[in-house]
Amino acid sequence: MKREVLIPATAIQERVKEIADQISKDYEGTEPVLVGILKGSIIFMADLVRAMRIPVQIDFMRATSYGAETRSSGTVRITKDLELPIEGRPVIVIEDIVDSGLTLAYVKELLIKRGVASLKICALIDKPERRVRDVPVDYCGFNVPEGFLVGYGLDCNEEYRNLPEICVLKE
Ligand code: IMP
Ligand code: MG
Repeated sequence: MKREVLIPATAIQERVKEIADQISKDYEGTEPVLVGILKGSIIFMADLVRAMRIPVQIDFMRATSYGAETRSSGTVRITKDLELPIEGRPVIVIEDIVDSGLTLAYVKELLIKRGVASLKICALIDKPERRVRDVPVDYCGFNVPEGFLVGYGLDCNEEYRNLPEICVLKE
């Protein structure tokens, strides 16, 4: 499939640094647990935590709502759960893309039930026009109204995750 660069690597790096600064400021004096949603968030999270200036702990969860298709199936399954205790901790969920919001709505409810002290969402890409469940994104890298994106962790059938820029796939 053909692809076109939408957000170049330098623009991503600049934005990631801004978000890291903002989070470092907002969470000063605390040690939040950053929960990365596998696998799409790993590149973003790796850059984000290295740009942060406060102590953080990191953990991962895997939630699947997509098969080999490009639209959410609506059913969410947790196939890998957290290892760190999060009760009483400030938690920030790190997502690659919030699209329909179904994945995040499910994860959010689950983590709140576990008694976190606070819960915020940080997403590299927000596609607010496509929301089915209302999930606000507290820290957002870029707003992208449409198109299927790949690169910088984002995949299409497990391909393109390693691209340093974000591209839009063309049929
Ligand atoms: P949601 O449950 O519809 O919000 O789905 C969110 C998940 O779908 C994201 O974490 C991505 O893994 C995947 N996704 C949604 N849109 C895209 C895209 O444009 N490119 C790659 N993955 C996407
Ligand atoms: Mg994902």
